[in-house]
Amino acid sequence: MTTPVSIRFTEAELEGIADAKGRVVVFVGAEGKMGQAARRVDKLTRGALKRLVDNDAFNRMKAGEAVDLAWPSGLAADVLQVIRLDRKDDIAAARKAGGAIGRALHVEGTLVLADTVARAAEVSFGIAMRAYDFTPHKTAEPKVAGEVVMMVNGPEAVAAEAAPLAALAEGVFFTRDLVNEPANILTTDDFAARLAAMQELGLEVEILEEAELADLGMGALLGVGQGSESPSKVVVMQWNGGGEEPPLALVGKGVVFDTGGISIKPAAGMEEMTMDMGGAGTVAGVMRTLALRGAKANVVGLVGLVENMPDGRAQRPGDVVRSMKGDTIEVINTDAEGRLVLADVIWYAQERFHPTGLIDLATLTGAVIVALGHEHTGVFSNDDGFCHAFLAAAEAEGEGAWRLPMGQAYDDKLKSRIADMMNVGGRDGGSITAAQFIKRFVKDETPWIHLDIAGTALLKKDTALAPKGATGWGVMALNRMIRDTFEA
Ligand code: BES
Ligand code: MN
Ligand code: ZN
Repeated sequence: MTTPVSIRFTEAELEGIADAKGRVVVFVGAEGKMGQAARRVDKLTRGALKRLVDNDAFNRMKAGEAVDLAWPSGLAADVLQVIRLDRKDDIAAARKAGGAIGRALHVEGTLVLADTVARAAEVSFGIAMRAYDFTPHKTAEPKVAGEVVMMVNGPEAVAAEAAPLAALAEGVFFTRDLVNEPANILTTDDFAARLAAMQELGLEVEILEEAELADLGMGALLGVGQGSESPSKVVVMQWNGGGEEPPLALVGKGVVFDTGGISIKPAAGMEEMTMDMGGAGTVAGVMRTLALRGAKANVVGLVGLVENMPDGRAQRPGDVVRSMKGDTIEVINTDAEGRLVLADVIWYAQERFHPTGLIDLATLTGAVIVALGHEHTGVFSNDDGFCHAFLAAAEAEGEGAWRLPMGQAYDDKLKSRIADMMNVGGRDGGSITAAQFIKRFVKDETPWIHLDIAGTALLKKDTALAPKGATGWGVMALNRMIRDTFEA
């Protein structure tokens, strides 16, 4: 997997600045406040830094924004990067500053002069997150960033604070790799094998194969995968870092490719459906993070891995399948497959683990993109307290999330003439009727959140913390929510 760049923390040592190769990064606070290192850089460059800071352009820069001075005289480095960041600036600004560094790491190394930075660990997290690059299918030798050194006050304390954030970055990278991987590589078998490999980290991992899924009665999930050469699977990952209490359950949609099935999708843009396992990818990334940082919580992650293909054996529109719960479903549209997968995995999770709460994640509907664009994940819940805890965590991590309503009138749209329900409720409110469908498989006593990440799992533009492509949306928020509600 793609591994985050390693970052070394050292005591501020001004002597090395002039000879540092590659890039040198310096921070300047509000009103042009400079620390020791910045003053040294200013002296070495004969006032170039001060000239920049005195310019109106610097005043207009926002917290965490950066500007490059190329080929600075007085420094061996190719570039001096100047970042506006004040001691009182928040975590988001510190991460953004890190992102500005991480997007431009130099092959000959990067020296970050963070002596005045209050949130140096958050800056290091931003560096790691933004330096992600998905290269396994590039034949040219990838450019490897040189050593990243951060000069800070109290390097041991900063390193200790950065360690759980490094675990988080690694979890996010795991998710991004899975989501970026094409479907001819990331088959259901390959996906399951990558999850099984996490046993090395102390996770308990089980793979349920088709025969067991059939014995369990998972007719809804199996119907989706029956047109594919790749076998359907459910993978169960357990992290038992807490006490005797039942776990939080995370459930992910893992459609490794969604052609739409017999209700086939148009050709334009279909290649994007390699990301239709994004929910499962996020669950996997959270489980990896929990294991890497040794979280003191009980969490079980379950993913339904299937491929939705058209074929002689594929499920047809009009077919009726029986879910593990026992309810029958008329499959009006084979492209509304994610909810069929989730229905059975969610039911199984509750029957087996009696979780204290259940959160499902899925690239479920195009309609959520119409509603919220790519800025917010659609949030649905049957429990206000649980939902607010998640929304607060997402807000704190800068991951957009917006709650949408549910209600009986939406559920009514799922009525079927010949079965207990249909798998679609019409075009209007498509994300909500999808959530209503899932809710039918959630027990009344289970606090539940459904996250529709169709618009946020993959972006065509880069962001402060991610290059274009898979984002890993939700790993940070879920990790924080688990930390704050179960490990407090
Ligand atoms: N995987 C898609 C949803 C999706 C769309 C994800 C765009 C990411 C980007 C899902 O399985 C799907 O096809 N949903 C249909 C539902 C419809 C048939 C009721 C949709 O949104 O069109
Ligand atoms: Mn679909
Ligand atoms: Zn899908």
